[in-house]
Amino acid sequence: MKPKYYLTTPIYYVNAAPHIGHTYTTIAADAIKRFKQMQGYEVVLTTGTDEHGQKIERAAEAAGKTPQQFADVVAEEFRKQWEILGLSIDRFSRTSTPEHAEVVQRLFQLCLNAGYIYKGSYTGQYCVFDELYVSDAKPGDPCPECGRPTETVTEENYFFKLSAFQQRLEEFHEKNPDFVQPETRRNEVLAFLRKGLTDLSISRTTIKWGIPLPVAGNHVFYVWFDALTTYMSAVEGQTSTAGEPLWPADLHLIGKEILRFHAIYWPAFLMAAGLPLPKKLFAHGWLLFENEKMSKSRGNLVRATPIIKVLGADPLRYFLLREVVFGQDGSFSYDALVGRYNSDLANGLGNLSSRTLSMIRQYRQGVVPQPAIAEPPLAQPARDAISSAVQAFDRLDFSRGLEAIWGLISAADKYIVEQAPWKLAKQGEEARTQLDTVLYSAAEVLRIATTLLIPILPQTAERIWLQLGMPDAIDSVTLQGLDWGQLLPGQRIGEPAALFPRVDLQEAVDKLWQLEAEEKAYQARLLGQPEAPPPAPGAKAEEGVMQPIAEPISIDDFGKVDLRVGLVKSAERVKGADKLLHLYVDIGEAQPRSIVAGIALAYQPEQLVGRKVVIVANLQPRKLRGIESNGMIVAASLEGGKPVLAGFLEDVPVGARLK
Ligand code: MSP
Repeated sequence: MKPKYYLTTPIYYVNAAPHIGHTYTTIAADAIKRFKQMQGYEVVLTTGTDEHGQKIERAAEAAGKTPQQFADVVAEEFRKQWEILGLSIDRFSRTSTPEHAEVVQRLFQLCLNAGYIYKGSYTGQYCVFDELYVSDAKPGDPCPECGRPTETVTEENYFFKLSAFQQRLEEFHEKNPDFVQPETRRNEVLAFLRKGLTDLSISRTTIKWGIPLPVAGNHVFYVWFDALTTYMSAVEGQTSTAGEPLWPADLHLIGKEILRFHAIYWPAFLMAAGLPLPKKLFAHGWLLFENEKMSKSRGNLVRATPIIKVLGADPLRYFLLREVVFGQDGSFSYDALVGRYNSDLANGLGNLSSRTLSMIRQYRQGVVPQPAIAEPPLAQPARDAISSAVQAFDRLDFSRGLEAIWGLISAADKYIVEQAPWKLAKQGEEARTQLDTVLYSAAEVLRIATTLLIPILPQTAERIWLQLGMPDAIDSVTLQGLDWGQLLPGQRIGEPAALFPRVDLQEAVDKLWQLEAEEKAYQARLLGQPEAPPPAPGAKAEEGVMQPIAEPISIDDFGKVDLRVGLVKSAERVKGADKLLHLYVDIGEAQPRSIVAGIALAYQPEQLVGRKVVIVANLQPRKLRGIESNGMIVAASLEGGKPVLAGFLEDVPVGARLK
């Protein structure tokens, strides 16, 4: 019988339709599920929607719907999004269901009975957007999470005695150093704990759209008490095939901004109720667009659907898990996405597959030959790649794991080019055994890479599996014992077909922006929000997705930004960072300034020397790749994130200020 592995994503708010940030977490969870299955676990993956609270009440009102009607529409969008991505979700939970409400009320009752809940009154600052009471704030102070002004509220509330768990939580995190991952996130949790915990208000009387508390009065649950409990209600009373209860969860996968709720509040609620705690949390980083978090409030979101339409679901999975180190923030751009599609998928995996299969057809009538030697040159690199990839995936270090697999693909390409099977085929009998070894090796690398890629590229892996003519069903393939030499000579391969046709970068990026504008308009209509005007016929794609104008600021605010004319004295690439250039820019100070700029994909270093640019001269210095950056170069940002430097038509002196 298989051991169980219960894995969750956050449940997503229904005030926004699904975007690529949600997709990122859910794709990663799906990849983990498939990997764990291949390790021999019975895996249950749950996701869902977080539907209560003021934010949603307000969004529904603006759309002229009841909160329930509004939540129904958006929840359905999430469900559909996971379906078109082909994600293997076992349970989609919604907080507005009676089954969930019952579990929330029960958890409350357990905490109440244990003496950890009391009634009190609260006057303080509240952020409606984040549904967060902000301690130590004065009227009008900004919310520490989103910067919006807080509102003053006074309410009779039920409080959870979070302060009573200070010591137990500290001990728990000390004894379980692996509970929060990655390590840097754990340090954040410890630092938060060290500041000291205060009791937490867990009910609201100002909101109607929520689960009622099982007490007198008009209290509904604070969203986080309600939302976190979904992890339990999703598998309420359920066991694995072997009869093992699914709770506690083996892994909660979350974004880093909701770490505190998961690492402190959630364990405290469970401790209070005397229930088992989840085994692990992994908080990944943010997808950034032009160095800012993608979010609805910033209006810089992209959606997954256009990418699925233009490139497919697997290329999106590959890009997200390869480009961004899991756990750290990472940039998203269409240029990088299409670039990787062409270089890694079309030229890398796709090319190895089509070339290997067509050579076996051409030279060996479609039958995998017997290699002449037991230990061909690719055997050891393949074993190394298996062990590196499996270890990396086990740590959820997807990008490292994929690097190892692509290292093997490159080694195979190199080997094929060196061995030149097309020449061996012409050399007759004496080269026959050598050609057998080359063809077997290429096919064996393809089988091994495909097996390792099942969790990341499930649809592609299945296609290659069939093209290779593998006898066993791909669903039954495990990682146990994966080794060189398991491909059986004599196997007849299937029909080769192109996996990733190359695309023209500019055409694909234009198409993506066009579909993105359409998807954005569709979502706005769906949510009953004012729609951006449609692009004029013949208008460039980017005009249809113009970012909204930022909030107004005063002239004094603008005066704080010191913009200067600078002259680029030198420029060079930053090692290991294909987007960065390191410049020295003269702005009339004693020494030119060191500035690191993300413009390397748009400009060659030599194009920049001697050019006048505009820089923000009073930004806090920061280090990028170990190099101090003392300012930022001003550039227009085009589609796909391509920068175009600001400049002047007239000659301007170095150091002049822009006001
Ligand atoms: N409803 C709460 C979570 C409750 S869990 C018990 C919530 N919802 S949310 O809709 O805001 O989703 C937040 C999650 O979506 C993040 O934690 C992360 O998993 C994912 N992401 C949303 N935007 C993202 C990025 N820009 N980048 C990476 N992940 C992102 O918080």
